[in-house]
Amino acid sequence: MKYVLKIITFFLVTLSCAVNAQLKDAYTYANYDQVTTTHIYLDLAVDFEEKSLKGFAELSLKWLSDDLQPIYLDTRDLIIKRVMAQNNSGNWVKVQHMLAKRDNVLGAKLTIKPQFKATKVRVYYHSTEKASGLQWLLPEQTAGKNKPFLFSQNQAIHARSWIPIQDTPTVRATYTARITTDKDLVAVMSANNEPDTERDGDYFFSMPQAIPSYLIAIGVGDLQFKAMSKQTGIYAEASILDAAVAEFDDTQAMIDETEKLFGPYRWGRYDLLILPPSFPFGGMENPRLSFITPTVIAGDKSLVNLIAHELAHSWSGNLVTNESWRDLWLNEGFTSYVENRIMESVFGVDRAVMEQALGAQGLNDEISVLAPGDTQLYIDLKGRDPDDAFSGVPYVKGQLFLMYLEEKFGRDKFDIFMLDYFNSHAFQSLGTENFIVYLKENLTHKYPDIVSDKVLNEWIYGQGLPSVSPKPTSNAFNIIDNLTNELLSKSISLDEVNTTPWTLHEWLHFINNLPLDINESFMSTLDKRFNLTVSTNAEIAHAWYLLSIKVGYKHVYPQMATYLKSIGRRKLIVPLYKELVSTQEGKEWALKVYEQARPGYHGLAQGTIDDLFAL
Ligand code: BES
Ligand code: ZN
Repeated sequence: MKYVLKIITFFLVTLSCAVNAQLKDAYTYANYDQVTTTHIYLDLAVDFEEKSLKGFAELSLKWLSDDLQPIYLDTRDLIIKRVMAQNNSGNWVKVQHMLAKRDNVLGAKLTIKPQFKATKVRVYYHSTEKASGLQWLLPEQTAGKNKPFLFSQNQAIHARSWIPIQDTPTVRATYTARITTDKDLVAVMSANNEPDTERDGDYFFSMPQAIPSYLIAIGVGDLQFKAMSKQTGIYAEASILDAAVAEFDDTQAMIDETEKLFGPYRWGRYDLLILPPSFPFGGMENPRLSFITPTVIAGDKSLVNLIAHELAHSWSGNLVTNESWRDLWLNEGFTSYVENRIMESVFGVDRAVMEQALGAQGLNDEISVLAPGDTQLYIDLKGRDPDDAFSGVPYVKGQLFLMYLEEKFGRDKFDIFMLDYFNSHAFQSLGTENFIVYLKENLTHKYPDIVSDKVLNEWIYGQGLPSVSPKPTSNAFNIIDNLTNELLSKSISLDEVNTTPWTLHEWLHFINNLPLDINESFMSTLDKRFNLTVSTNAEIAHAWYLLSIKVGYKHVYPQMATYLKSIGRRKLIVPLYKELVSTQEGKEWALKVYEQARPGYHGLAQGTIDDLFAL
């Protein structure tokens, strides 16, 4: 009998392990195969004094298992007050809960043990100052310097730091929220924002389409709204609102063009929220309301591919979603591809090709320094925090893969494939393997002998770039290359070069391709002629500072210090710190700057840069 029991136990344990092993997302504690969230209601008060969101999250649940199971939720640095569940007669009863020890990557597993298969549970909680997904800014860190600001950044696994939740992109839920805050502040969310809502500190939101947890987002600040078209508008602090509207007024044209290519925009309004400069990303595709860094307001629309990118996520990412962070390339690679198609439609093929070429060069540089395993599209995260494995690979290698397919099958067939892919997977999450099955069935096997399975495997599972990868080249860049050679060989002088018609892209290509043995006097001549050190274009300044560090052109340092202290966008600051710490002298200088800059950075940026200094 003992033996029989043992065998049965062994069998059950193996079975449950097998079930768990099937779960695609390794970055959640949620038993989403047994019980899944269908709707979330958030009732939260914003407390700027304590840097805390306080209230409750109510999860509506659908049970997939026949029998009662504990409910496991993801949390990180939350204070859990109590948990209630609604019984059949509609009454709320207290249920037992347990908060496990905090894991550095995953956070703390919250176990809820209802005595019945509850269809609604409420978790009463406070978020804390440590919340990795929130940044609380003091008034002096905002444009207006008058009122505080709060914003969230949930991707990849930070939703759990301000909401107890099944924090996995496999689970999609609709949400509603009531947010209360100071009367003179406006709250916005990745939901239906009413542009003419009364400014009374009490706001209600509804997101009627089911979205994954990483797309729940909140912003609170002294915000104003201005419409750009019937469907699009901008939320920003008053002092930057007009500049933002002027910069981004092609957003409606971008939507219209994308709809022609890849099917309807399914989210209603599309607004932009312009954040303070500490926002750690360029943009975040929060549905109906992309979050945007102010560093792309260049005055000449030269950086608006960022808007095309975040908008493109309304198809790739928000509509069709990666089911785990290993599959990030399905979000970012498709989005980079769609972004570039939008840029081509709205701004012409020359600009689109220049952007491809800049991306490809950036990727090649990155591949040469990345661990080989991290150059795979289907990446093995090896238990690391997904933020730590972030690179340009899912973006540009993913984009090049799709460009390769486009080139092989022709736009006629490829565009139909894309359109069908979005339509057939709308509001679903999928992973690399299922995508490959779909791709074979609907493209590479449907039109056989054009792209082999072997080549597909090389793209998806191989390292580096396959030899068949497209190599985007731009005529404009070839002209710049010739000119650079002439300048360096002194066959022409700087005075003979007319840079007036150069676009941002030509400038970036020029700076990025200057040789590292360039001498200081040439740097100085360039600088005097083109004022590069004080460029107001954040990308040009970045490229110029990076080159200056590499070649030892110290003149930029004071201006670069100001830059590093006023911008918190990781892509612009991390490479500068990285380059600086490679020499002892640079490291000492950078540390002094960082000590002053650090309090203004978002936790994500702090984490990355702390690592560089081994703090
Ligand atoms: N969704 C990403 C940002 C992101 C990715 C956050 C992974 C956390 C984890 C966003 O759409 C993005 O890619 N932003 C880029 C835009 C650029 C490629 C045009 C950025 O922030 O630089
Ligand atoms: Zn993106």
